[in-house]
Amino acid sequence: MKKLIIANWKANPESIGKAEILAKETEAAIPALKNAEVVIAPPFPFLHSIGSLLARAQLGAQDVWGTGGPYTGMVSARQLKSMGVAYVIVGHSERRIHAGETDAMIQKKLSAVLEHGLKPVLCIGERQRQGSEIPAIAGEQLSAALAGIKKEMLRRLTVAYEPVWAISTTSVASGATTPDGAFRARIYIEKLLVSLFGARAAREARIIYGGSVTPDNVLAFLTEGAMDGALVGGASLDPKKFGEIVSSAAEIA
Ligand code: PGA
Repeated sequence: MKKLIIANWKANPESIGKAEILAKETEAAIPALKNAEVVIAPPFPFLHSIGSLLARAQLGAQDVWGTGGPYTGMVSARQLKSMGVAYVIVGHSERRIHAGETDAMIQKKLSAVLEHGLKPVLCIGERQRQGSEIPAIAGEQLSAALAGIKKEMLRRLTVAYEPVWAISTTSVASGATTPDGAFRARIYIEKLLVSLFGARAAREARIIYGGSVTPDNVLAFLTEGAMDGALVGGASLDPKKFGEIVSSAAEIA
């Protein structure tokens, strides 16, 4: 399975001009890719322009609303598809926290993304952690989001384990989890997928890690942590750092 590295720009940068420069510099910094897939997820207003600049990276979206129609301010899965979007982040903790997204909303979004032939990146992760066990909330988020999904769809699914406390910009930030912690999360998620969909289908989903990923720690997550990729926030705004992260992933795949 090719490693998947996703740049989540969040609400950055501040203008379309800066976004275009960031996209061009990022494209120049990533190596020709045989063994890895790269996705850049800019804010909605920049999707079209950034999409037209990408050659090596694919286009991603940071959110979706499912259906079109009377939903002011929302963007539908069909619209994203028509913009050339391949991957859609669903259920990021910042949306759960700041936009009040519930598991039920996330389940609807995930279904819509799959229904329209797009690839969801489902984010799950606890806000706080005591001890080394993955808290049950991560599993509850996962099962709730996957309700009603057919097992044939798992080959398009990526689950991003992204504990809130590990996200670089969060107020409770306490640094990335350890590669061992990522490995435990992988096993936890895999087990749950097996119990829900059976072993064969479960193996087809990707499981990636997010939370303070940098050029210095990415290799450990992909090897010791056995992760299929990384969701990168802060470091994706620095083309040099992001290019190094992608190069590491491309080497080991
Ligand atoms: P970070 O963000 O890499 O800045 O920790 C990751 C994310 O929130 O997707």
